[in-house]
Amino acid sequence: MVKPIIAPSILASDFANLGCECHRVINAGAEWLHIDVMDGHFVPNITLGQPIVTSLRRAVPRSQEEEKASGEVARPTAFFDCHMMVEEPEKWVADFAKAGADQFTFHYEATKDPLSLVKLIKENGIKAACAIKPGTPVDVLFELAPYLDMALVMTVEPGFGGQKFMPDMMPKVEALRTKFPHMNIQVDGGLGKETIGVAAKAGANVIVAGTSVFTASDPHEVISFMKEEVRKELKAKHILGDETKH
Ligand code: DX5
Ligand code: ZN
Repeated sequence: MVKPIIAPSILASDFANLGCECHRVINAGAEWLHIDVMDGHFVPNITLGQPIVTSLRRAVPRSQEEEKASGEVARPTAFFDCHMMVEEPEKWVADFAKAGADQFTFHYEATKDPLSLVKLIKENGIKAACAIKPGTPVDVLFELAPYLDMALVMTVEPGFGGQKFMPDMMPKVEALRTKFPHMNIQVDGGLGKETIGVAAKAGANVIVAGTSVFTASDPHEVISFMKEEVRKELKAKHILGDETKH
């Protein structure tokens, strides 16, 4: 069973106020934060690294339980979904796990041995996910999927926020949903109120949204709308899980 999850991409936030920006979207209903890590080699852009994740983890704890145990005023909590657009992802697993990542999404195109990388990520105590670029066929994920916590189908060329959603990626999502009905399937790039319908229909349940959430005058309304679209489609497919359980 799967649930609708909205993961705002912090790339679209005001980095000078990162902690507050994250609290704002979590309070608006986001349960994940999508953290885009780019190294200037795998993609033609540089974003952020583990020192920022470490700081952000202090401002945004992992779970309410941990937060209550801290004895301080409860802060908003979130799951850190790290999208690693880097060459040699193996090099960064331990550092990001230590910094507070909850999930490490590597690119299929960036590694020679995806299965060993999944094992390494899990040995570091966090969840493992694999992303494919628009030019990569979905079949490469079929063998790997049973070992993954999530698959990410890119709906733009990785590297920049604010690009146009590619609807022609939806057959990949459909193929994954048909083969793996209970898997977390994420889409990333150009998602918002206008594009969520097709993505939800194809079977995506984890929605990355940067520009559409962070620039919205009412992020709560955008997040609720997208979540409801996903919920409707998961229900129609009879795979909607219990949303009260985490
Ligand atoms: C692109 C990144 C995306 C991006 C999404 O390489 O992986 O996560 O920030 O931004 P929007 O939602 O603005 O397309
Ligand atoms: Zn991303």
